[in-house]
Amino acid sequence: MDLLDGKKTSLDIQKELSEKVKSIVKNGLKPPHLAAVLVGDDGASRTYVNAKVKACERVGFKSTLHHLSSDVSESELLKIVNQLNADDSVDGFIVQLPLPNHIDDHKITLAISPNKDVDGFHPENVGKMTLGLPTFLPATPNGVMELLKRYNIPTEGKNTVVIGRSSIVGTPMSILMSRKTNPGNSTVTLAHSRTQNLEEICMKADILIVAIGIPEFVTSNMVKPNAVVIDVGIHRIEDASRKNGFRLIGDVNFSEVSSKCSYITPVPGGVGPMTIASLLMNTYIASSERN
Ligand code: GUN
Repeated sequence: MDLLDGKKTSLDIQKELSEKVKSIVKNGLKPPHLAAVLVGDDGASRTYVNAKVKACERVGFKSTLHHLSSDVSESELLKIVNQLNADDSVDGFIVQLPLPNHIDDHKITLAISPNKDVDGFHPENVGKMTLGLPTFLPATPNGVMELLKRYNIPTEGKNTVVIGRSSIVGTPMSILMSRKTNPGNSTVTLAHSRTQNLEEICMKADILIVAIGIPEFVTSNMVKPNAVVIDVGIHRIEDASRKNGFRLIGDVNFSEVSSKCSYITPVPGGVGPMTIASLLMNTYIASSERN
């Protein structure tokens, strides 16, 4: 078994981007600027947004964080989205999901200008992705594609099974893997909570991508020998033996599955850092298109 090292690959991409930033700044252009909107105090969302902001600093991007209280109204949030749409100094921005229950995620996503939607969540960008037109690709699925590409994992004609059909990960992942691209050109099965005979379906997967949000859901009886396993899940589990009191695990039972597969992403250090690399790549593209 070999690890698909997302941490190292993400740092490689960040190094490449920082070289590009140095060169555009030398030519008198502004560095790319990513704005992030965080609503409320959810610990995981704060961690993710802080990691995104920190990564911007590392590559020389400008970043601004708009941290709003959990009781901000939908109309107030829409006002901020519209201000960011109109702000010429901002190349791209994200609104971290999930939002509090009193705010409609779809309404907010629809209000983001497609040309600043570096998360690739706006229906116009989702439509372009589905048609294979150039657009911002959603960060997590595109991060997985980039990891497969940089490790030269063959995907053409292979059976890919994606577990989980969320609009942020599973559904776009299934679309990207079936497109006429490399990586891609896979025969894709999108499995979800109503799928019957899941074990049987997973056993046919040359590439198994797990984004179901259940800790250690995938066990070795669901993995074909020498499969490539991509674990999108991340969960905090209490662990008194650790200094910080917890450890991170994925949707895959790593200790069981790792001895059976050919490649696997670790948690942490697999897909998570690739999501950040992918968001930075989209922000760089947004900035190039505006310059
Ligand atoms: N919540 C979980 N993943 C993401 C992501 O990629 N972007 C945003 N905006 N929110 C998320």
